[in-house]
Amino acid sequence: MGDSSMGLHEQPDKLSAQTVDRHRAIVSLMEELEAVDWYDQRVDAATDPELAQVLAHNRDEEKEHAAMTLEWLRRHDPVLDTQLRTYLFTSGPVTEVEQEAMDRGGSGDPGAVTERQAAGPGDGSLGIGSLKGVGE
Ligand SMILES: [Fe+2]
Repeated sequence: MGDSSMGLHEQPDKLSAQTVDRHRAIVSLMEELEAVDWYDQRVDAATDPELAQVLAHNRDEEKEHAAMTLEWLRRHDPVLDTQLRTYLFTSGPVTEVEQEAMDRGGSGDPGAVTERQAAGPGDGSLGIGSLKGVGE
């Protein structure tokens, strides 16, 4: 793939391999979400119910692709990781989630280590903690 078709905004020789790989993932995530949107519209507009079913199936596969790419990005971007840990799988008003995180001892600074983040992934407490933290 040529540089111009990759949509880079700076000279490639000034960019780290990590930045270019994240760029690839971000563009890919954008394409997957755009596809979800386009399929949604085609499902709505299709007059044949069987075609609508096929399009809806294909749309939902794009969501898997988007989730896999987002997870790769999370693993390669510590600040994105922090934000996703703060906001995802919460309930209640999204605009109050940051305050909840600060109340739990974080500073609200995206770089700050929250209690939940310090616990780390895969300890089994993440989902429970995020459910408990919001809406109480
Ligand atoms: Fe896809």
